[in-house]
Amino acid sequence: MTERPMKVGIVGAGNIAARHAQAYRELAEIGAVEVVGVADLALDRAEALARTLPGARAYASLGDMLRQAGPDGVSVCAPNAFHREIAVEALEAGAHVLCEKPPAINAVQAEEMAALAAARERVLLYGLLYRHMVPARPFVEELGRIYHAEAVWLRRRGIPGWGIYTDKEMQGGGAFIDLGVHVLDLAWSLMGCPRPMRIGGTTFAHIGRTSQVGLLGPWDRERFGVEDTAVGAVMFEGETRLEIHAAFAANIPVNEQVYVGLNGDRGALKIPLMTSQEVATEAFRPTIYTERHGHLIDMSISEPLPPTVAQGFRLQAEHFVRCCVDGEQPIVTPEQGTVLQRMIDGFYASAGSTDRVVLADE
Ligand SMILES: NC(=O)c1ccc[n+]([C@@H]2O[C@H](COP(=O)([O-])OP(=O)(O)OC[C@H]3O[C@@H](n4cnc5c(N)ncnc54)[C@H](O)[C@@H]3O)[C@@H](O)[C@H]2O)c1
Repeated sequence: MTERPMKVGIVGAGNIAARHAQAYRELAEIGAVEVVGVADLALDRAEALARTLPGARAYASLGDMLRQAGPDGVSVCAPNAFHREIAVEALEAGAHVLCEKPPAINAVQAEEMAALAAARERVLLYGLLYRHMVPARPFVEELGRIYHAEAVWLRRRGIPGWGIYTDKEMQGGGAFIDLGVHVLDLAWSLMGCPRPMRIGGTTFAHIGRTSQVGLLGPWDRERFGVEDTAVGAVMFEGETRLEIHAAFAANIPVNEQVYVGLNGDRGALKIPLMTSQEVATEAFRPTIYTERHGHLIDMSISEPLPPTVAQGFRLQAEHFVRCCVDGEQPIVTPEQGTVLQRMIDGFYASAGSTDRVVLADE
């Protein structure tokens, strides 16, 4: 992949950092990266993760890691509320940044991050994992004019009761910013990232605030500070409508239902997404429903097998390294991250008011 290993570090040694660590461990084995450090305000967590990464040292702050280990790039795996400050500190020190999704806590922060990355000529890649995993882009041409899209991630009582996910201050929201952002981004990127014009939606927290019965264990309903359900729609330039439905907790007949659908005048594309399962044969296989020779037909990809989630993180890490070392163009641009964050902001603003939020001048 590269001539010399790229020095990488991880900031925030929690849940998702383990995925980044596994991907970097594999890339270290082939000499593409050298993992130099793991930083976490909780030093014991940094130490525990660093022990699994040969050569990596643990640090109690990003500043210490930047000064002492000098990484070329860092993975930002801290809660959303800290993405901006960590990315800014890393970029100012001259490091490239792979920042977990969502980009930040609001669009002002995402704009600042994008501007700084441009000014410092550093890579800023957002961890929108599914863009690396779905081989659907070329097939979108089969659909004709796309007029409607669906972005759906519903869990039957899948409220994460641990960590930060029900904490508005830490994450900026619940089901929409955590789950919805993945499917919104995938649908939007497959549509070619059209300009959002208006957004509107509603949030609910009925189950989160009243129940504690869930498939991921109980949660503290007294401290449930986010939405368990988000429903909304975005109108894009050209009067294309995207509907989004994201839920940590919904009374549905399956444990999880996750898909992206694009509806065009010549065909429709549906992509079921892998969820909690590591291997799922149906997931990530796009199917096109269309018309050929007077018949209605279904076309789907049967080979190669779709990547697992772990392979998705590896594809993402490989891409990050190629962007940093070989100058490959990021699959997610910082500007796209900012627009995505504007949609998130717009959604939450609209959910708190009675009007649709206008995102662009018509
Ligand atoms: N791509 C995905 O599918 C996916 C899945 C889960 C989480 N995430 C994202 O990953 C991020 C982290 O989520 P998580 O579940 O791993 O959280 P977590 O709570 O398990 O871990 C976060 C860690 O960051 C540390 N931390 C907090 N502030 C810090 C700072 N300023 N400097 C250094 N360390 C700091 C905490 O001590 C903690 O150990 C979130 O942005 C979340 O949205 C992405």
